[in-house]
Amino acid sequence: MKIVEIPAFIDMHVHFREPGFEYKETIETGLKSAQKAGYEIVCTMPNTKPVCDNLNTLNYILEKSKGYSCKLYPVCAVTKNLNSEELVDFETLSNAGAKAFSNDGLPILNHSVFYNALKSEKLILSHLEDETKEAIWQIQIFEELTREGFSPRLHFCHISKKSTLEAIKAAKARGLKITCETAPHYFTFTKENVTDTGVFKMNPPLGEESDRLFVIDSVKDGTIDVLSTDHAPHGNEEKLLPYDKSPNGITGLETAFSLTFAQFGLEKTLELMSYNPAKILGAEIKGKNKFDLDKTYTVHGAEFSSKCKVTPYENMILKGVKIDD
Ligand code: DOR
Ligand code: ZN
Ligand code: ZN
Repeated sequence: MKIVEIPAFIDMHVHFREPGFEYKETIETGLKSAQKAGYEIVCTMPNTKPVCDNLNTLNYILEKSKGYSCKLYPVCAVTKNLNSEELVDFETLSNAGAKAFSNDGLPILNHSVFYNALKSEKLILSHLEDETKEAIWQIQIFEELTREGFSPRLHFCHISKKSTLEAIKAAKARGLKITCETAPHYFTFTKENVTDTGVFKMNPPLGEESDRLFVIDSVKDGTIDVLSTDHAPHGNEEKLLPYDKSPNGITGLETAFSLTFAQFGLEKTLELMSYNPAKILGAEIKGKNKFDLDKTYTVHGAEFSSKCKVTPYENMILKGVKIDD
């Protein structure tokens, strides 16, 4: 038995599916899943239905999230309906509670739209599709705005590839204050693990062993700042469909700490899951978690609080159990 008391966690990237896809997850089941896993704050992505690009939807989400011990930080869309054409009203949405902006699920491919989004000086969480290529031009725009005297804020979502991390590392070496995250699946699995169903299907997809190893090195050398889960629940039946017919995304909240702790140890895990996300979001962590770091458990998706019980970690034996007072 090894009991530690540590700061609560922040997840900068989850999908709670409400409004619109409540059969996959609701704000209630998502927040309960996060709370059980030790999170104090979660940032919810705006690819709901309707998209969270307007005050009504934002207020609906904020209202529904009241009364839970885990706080919900809404991320609003960068562009209306995630179309990469018309920017949202950054000021109005920020004043109403939006903590960041992202078109997660879709990349922003229009350079001038991206330039204007960064020019707002709001925190932009960038989902990349052609990962390395898009990271390179987005870093260039960040650099251009910095030269012009602006203070852009850019954080790259779920980085999975060696070549992208090399570009981010080079940008950081030039002094650019960009940040990025990875998720546990990118240091745990490779494309060799993928089966003929959707259990291991997510976007970006799992990579080569060389990518996995580089993700690990990039966490260790500080190129990767944050561990997010990209908790992206779907219906249990749809996740078990043949690979091509199954949607992208896996649940992540309830296994994140154990996987990260096993790979990187406690000190680094707290940097990735508490201190760095708090710094980026300008948030203060108030809560504590008590964990027995020696206690092992076997992952059974059926026991998750999340609605999505399908998990690529099924039957894995992990260490680190949260103790509730
Ligand atoms: O795997 C993913 N699922 N990647 C994304 O970018 C979107 C997400 C979702 O919304 O399901
Ligand atoms: Zn994404
Ligand atoms: Zn996502």
